[in-house]
Amino acid sequence: MKFSFSNSVNGMKPSEIRELNKMASSPGIISLGGGMPSPETFPIRELTEIMEDIMKNNANLALQYGNTLGINPVREEIAIMLEKVEKIRTTMENIIVNSGSQQGLYELGAVLANPGDTIITEEPTYVGAVSAFSANGLRMEGIPVDTMGMKVELLEERIKALIGSGRKPKFIYVIPTFQNPTGYSMPVERRKILIEISLKYEIPIVEDNPYGQLRYYGQPVPCLRSMPGGEDIIYLGTFSKVMTPGLRLGYTVAPKEVMEKFNLIKQALDLATNSFSQYVAYEYVKRGIIYKQVELNKILYKKKRDAIIKSLKENMSDMAEYSEPEGGMFVWATVKKNIDTREMIPAAIKNGVAYVSGQAFTTNGTQKSSMRLNFTFGTVEQLDEGIKRLTKTLNEQA
Ligand SMILES: Cc1ncc(COP(=O)(O)O)c(C=O)c1O
Repeated sequence: MKFSFSNSVNGMKPSEIRELNKMASSPGIISLGGGMPSPETFPIRELTEIMEDIMKNNANLALQYGNTLGINPVREEIAIMLEKVEKIRTTMENIIVNSGSQQGLYELGAVLANPGDTIITEEPTYVGAVSAFSANGLRMEGIPVDTMGMKVELLEERIKALIGSGRKPKFIYVIPTFQNPTGYSMPVERRKILIEISLKYEIPIVEDNPYGQLRYYGQPVPCLRSMPGGEDIIYLGTFSKVMTPGLRLGYTVAPKEVMEKFNLIKQALDLATNSFSQYVAYEYVKRGIIYKQVELNKILYKKKRDAIIKSLKENMSDMAEYSEPEGGMFVWATVKKNIDTREMIPAAIKNGVAYVSGQAFTTNGTQKSSMRLNFTFGTVEQLDEGIKRLTKTLNEQA
């Protein structure tokens, strides 16, 4: 049989991260590549207890299909949690529970835009968002990021130019806190300007915030959704970095009319998110375990963040500039020599270290001399050794 494939799937490329994970899982390779939490943070004892309780007391519901928007008690608990940790005021009716926030990204692309429409992203931006939006046939216009996140002073001009050419953007996708891949955060002044621009041009903001709770240094900055004027912002959150990614649970907060459309698209995707995972999350939040776990994660990740920065200072400071993030999971390094970091990957793997090249986070081939380094997965010793192997690889490129 000769199969013919759709234009949208033919236009998609395999994610560099998935490809890299295959190589990086070979023995002896230190992976600074994927965005994985440390298995040390998985609350195995607590989750075992919760799962046993669910099977004893609530199996009939936990093993059954659930509502398309999510199980009501879970949505209620998420609303309570969001008020507590992010000062977001919302209700269950405005929350959909998804199979990871990745599914939420796909739903957004399907609900808010048509194939061929333009949206605005940061440049660089989260590689999974690029695949979710590409799968919906969207055109991405990247606004460069500096150490303070999206350069909002460039945003308005770009919007005007796009409107002038009949391509008014359908939404603005941002990761304002501990951005993936750069690790940078947007200060409150820029956040205000971003909200003003969104309201002025009536272009919705989509705020993706998987890392907001993982702050190791500095003062918290309010999330966009909690700020004045931010009530209509669509907000994505996840349990992946504060519980486990394996249970695949994320959620989207959105105005009611958007929620109705999510309901329709979600029915087509999977009818409903895994009920068992949802009941696990419900107990995890209700029993307050999440808040204690986040504190433990922060202690562990702060040590790892300090270890990678120390090693970068000792080994790579004359070769690369790098972010020193106050939280999150990533350092963004840009090499001073004119090296193409994508082309360098095989040499790095040969030396026993993996990373993701800057180009994976753009749609236009920029960021060639940058790379994203994850610091949450490896041990302190592996992080130091990984940076040494990367330095050796860079030296060999001369
Ligand atoms: C910015 C961002 N958004 C969304 C996701 C997807 O997370 P999940 O689908 O596990 O909730 C990630 C995962 O790394 C991410 O970094």
